[in-house]
Amino acid sequence: MHAENAVTGAEIEHLKQERNAVILAHNYQLPEVQDVADFLGDSLGLSKQAAATDADVIVFCGVQFMAQTAKLLSPDKLVLMPDPEAGCPMADMIAPEQLRAFKAQHPGAPVVAYVNTTAEVKAEVDICCTSANSVEVIRSLDADTVLFVPDRYLAHWTQAHVPDKKIIPYPGFCHSHLGIEPEAILALKREHPEAVVIVHPECTPDVTELADLVASTSGMVRFVRETDAKEVIVGTEVGMVYRLQRENPNITYYPVEVAICPDMKKTTLPKVLTSLKDLVYEIDIEPEIAAGARQAVERMTQIGT
Ligand code: 13P
Ligand code: SF4
Repeated sequence: MHAENAVTGAEIEHLKQERNAVILAHNYQLPEVQDVADFLGDSLGLSKQAAATDADVIVFCGVQFMAQTAKLLSPDKLVLMPDPEAGCPMADMIAPEQLRAFKAQHPGAPVVAYVNTTAEVKAEVDICCTSANSVEVIRSLDADTVLFVPDRYLAHWTQAHVPDKKIIPYPGFCHSHLGIEPEAILALKREHPEAVVIVHPECTPDVTELADLVASTSGMVRFVRETDAKEVIVGTEVGMVYRLQRENPNITYYPVEVAICPDMKKTTLPKVLTSLKDLVYEIDIEPEIAAGARQAVERMTQIGT
């Protein structure tokens, strides 16, 4: 660890004890932020951790929708984001008015929202899902036709695994994963013919069809813990490589360097320190919105994946 980071890390540790706080960080966070986290994980894992912790304060290092989900599941805890400007451009692709118009086009069909949505949108859907449980969530619905917002590519990938239902996708997407082009994966495969390819389901179908594994970020973590492969091509946000290296340093990882989520990089160690020191920035969700959104998230967590 860099000397400055070590000092900040020690201060963070001290404040964490004082505040009875826990630091939850997504797998895409900066290495120095991952290093001070109590729990690292994907969207599903982090929401479960948020629900289970007995800390008084949750410092959430990720993006807005993730911290909001933590608040929904832990309404009595103080949930803080070190940088509240860290959003998810995909989540902002659908507002409640757009959701209502989409529903009006397909009356009666239940709506599944990827957790990458605002609390306002979650409040008007039937159930949430993450990239780790989208197949189980859709299977659980007693309907032949299901609306899926906002990620058209996660919808497409899920559809292939649930052929007996018709999934109607909303046309949202993730810029960072769209930057991963099939040519980049093919070039890495040519350079490293022995390498295994793992990609996130937010990637386009011409990328997912080149992959040996399509999985959520925690699915990727599990895979590298168990695989015999010596080289892995990583088709998701570049921050993932630090996490994977931690899990299995014996593997050589080849990321697609253009895949950066600028919002995931907004949370820095000094901001984490300030967050703990000044108890900022608090996540607050209007009670009427929170009630509906919580129901959609809890229905998902009850599915049991
Ligand atoms: P995971 O839930 O797989 O970590 O993905 C979250 C995300 O935002 C991917 O871009
Ligand atoms: Fe949102 Fe994409 Fe960033 Fe994930 S990587 S938080 S989907 S913008």
